[in-house]
Amino acid sequence: MKLLHEGTITNQVLHKKLPFSMKRLYLEDLPVIEQIQAKVIESLPEKDSLQALATEEFLFILNERGLMVGAFVEDELIGFRALLIPEIDEEHLGWDIGLPPEQLRKVIYQEISVVLPEYRGNRLQQKLAEVIMKELPNLEEEYRYVCCTVAPMNIPSLKDKFTQAMHIAALKEKYAGLQRYILVKDLENPLGHYSDHVTVKLDDLEKQQQLLREGYVGIGFQLVQGFHEIQFAKPVL
Ligand SMILES: CC(C)(COP(=O)(O)OP(=O)(O)OC[C@H]1O[C@@H](n2cnc3c(N)ncnc32)[C@H](O)[C@@H]1OP(=O)(O)O)[C@@H](O)C(=O)NCCC(=O)NCCS
Repeated sequence: MKLLHEGTITNQVLHKKLPFSMKRLYLEDLPVIEQIQAKVIESLPEKDSLQALATEEFLFILNERGLMVGAFVEDELIGFRALLIPEIDEEHLGWDIGLPPEQLRKVIYQEISVVLPEYRGNRLQQKLAEVIMKELPNLEEEYRYVCCTVAPMNIPSLKDKFTQAMHIAALKEKYAGLQRYILVKDLENPLGHYSDHVTVKLDDLEKQQQLLREGYVGIGFQLVQGFHEIQFAKPVL
């Protein structure tokens, strides 16, 4: 099996640096993928904070409707990250960010990422992002837009997306009435320059929606008097 990355990682419980590697995951890995997801859910103080994937969803991804990369210490899976090629239906995130219909098939979603508690603090989620995005050109079709949803107030997930230069393009009711940010990165034409920077409180969703309507996008965090605020700005095209 081709190794996509090799390095060392600290096990926080053993206080020990160990060699680790990354590789693509396939159907045969499904049992361990689900074991890791279950362990991570078990360790969460708030079970709802993670949008876990069902067996059928993992099967969908592993059956050529996406891509998964796993990190291993020796032969043990310690974390993974997933991309999903979505069905084109009325829920498609491309509609929410105003993509023209012919572009929808060029959209891929970033889905779940998990790291076992004893291996956290190594920025493994970020490393998995770099490696999985490098695998994107190996898929059969070409993908131009990477999209995902994040719940408002989820600072770590937003941090993960901003670090990858994704930006908030919409804030809408998705999933049975729950508000979600929709983030995107155009791989062919990434946004680079911005003007009119403003910061908005994390919980001021009305103001954020107003700015999005006016053509602003959310690009990062700014610490204001010790609190995270979201920075919005207008792309200079
Ligand atoms: C999210 C997750 C994958 C990150 O694991 P990791 O890569 O080991 O993350 P790290 O501990 O190295 O932290 C990375 C960054 O996120 C921040 N972070 C992580 N958890 C955080 C939390 N609960 N609150 C605030 N910030 C947090 C860290 O401070 C760090 O920021 P920095 O780069 O500015 O220092 C892991 O915590 C996890 O599996 N959580 C449960 C599943 C989940 O929520 N997945 C994400 C949504 S699908």
